[in-house]
Amino acid sequence: MKIIPLNKAKYGMILAMDIRDTTGKIIFKKNSEINEEVISTLKKFGIFNIPVSSLKVTQKISQEAFKHSVISPEILDLNYEKIKDVFKNLESNNNLDIDAVIDIASSIKNEIENNYSDILFVPLKKLKSFDEYLYAHSLNVMIISSLLAVESKILGDELLDISISSLLHDIGKTKVPIEIMNAPRVLNEEEMNIMRNHVLYGKKIAIESGIKDKNIIGGIYEHHERVDGKGYLEKKNGNEITVFGKIVAIADVYDALTSVRSYKGPWSPYKTISFILTNVEKQFDGTFAQGLINAFGIYPAGTRVQLSNGQFGTVIASNRSNKIRPLIKIDHGDVLDLSKEKNLRIVKVLDYILIE
Ligand SMILES: [Fe+2]
Ligand SMILES: [Fe+2]
Repeated sequence: MKIIPLNKAKYGMILAMDIRDTTGKIIFKKNSEINEEVISTLKKFGIFNIPVSSLKVTQKISQEAFKHSVISPEILDLNYEKIKDVFKNLESNNNLDIDAVIDIASSIKNEIENNYSDILFVPLKKLKSFDEYLYAHSLNVMIISSLLAVESKILGDELLDISISSLLHDIGKTKVPIEIMNAPRVLNEEEMNIMRNHVLYGKKIAIESGIKDKNIIGGIYEHHERVDGKGYLEKKNGNEITVFGKIVAIADVYDALTSVRSYKGPWSPYKTISFILTNVEKQFDGTFAQGLINAFGIYPAGTRVQLSNGQFGTVIASNRSNKIRPLIKIDHGDVLDLSKEKNLRIVKVLDYILIE
């Protein structure tokens, strides 16, 4: 059990004890899930510290969202296992199985081509343990990069190439010592340089494995470059960075910020999109960042919102033809297609992370 300030409470945390008012009457029972109503009631009672039983933060996705999923949950899980094998094989045998890489990238490309529609839910793999971050992150960055490519009309063989490039973008991290990879602190300068070199190690592994395509290599080698020239390793500026480098850079940051890491909790998808947009033309390319909104909407799935009728809900899918009117699962209620509810609108975004 931990006592935390109420303003640090996140939706879905569990109360570790009964909460009582001054007369001893129970206001909320032990094991109640914290939501906006609980928080506002506790504030009214003047309770500003609360006992919670778990601080584990993972994203809870409504089952309804998967009806609109651009990748089926089975294919997501299957490819996750395949990616794990590819990375483990590379770590232990120094051998990158290119056929397996193409097979994974083709499967994700096919799912996107077959399931892309106006109502869109983008499923991302949430990690179960910190040492699995690299596998889940590689899968997620591949999915997001491929969607950004589709939004920029990059299709066919080129789409397969960016799927391959983004899947492999961090393979160089298999050469970075595990203590540096999982350090729950800020790295020192020397460690930072080793970490930065993962793009170089990745490029080498790709070339040694027979990858010749300049674009694929670009996504691996340039995904930490910034359009203002302040990135690494080469400090390339906007017109020197390849299209794949620019796309993977955005997908990489989106997944990194929305994930739990050993040194930080996850950001909400809404906050993450806002961060990327405010850094357009500094860190990120504006055209491809726009693609992020086209695919995820202004309020990405997982965003907690309040509607003009006072109801709370969670966005479960974006509406590509009406980006401010997504599909919303109302708390204890039905799914609402906001594009068909002209009398309703989103009045507030609640920047909580969902927890399960
Ligand atoms: Fe990276
Ligand atoms: Fe990455």
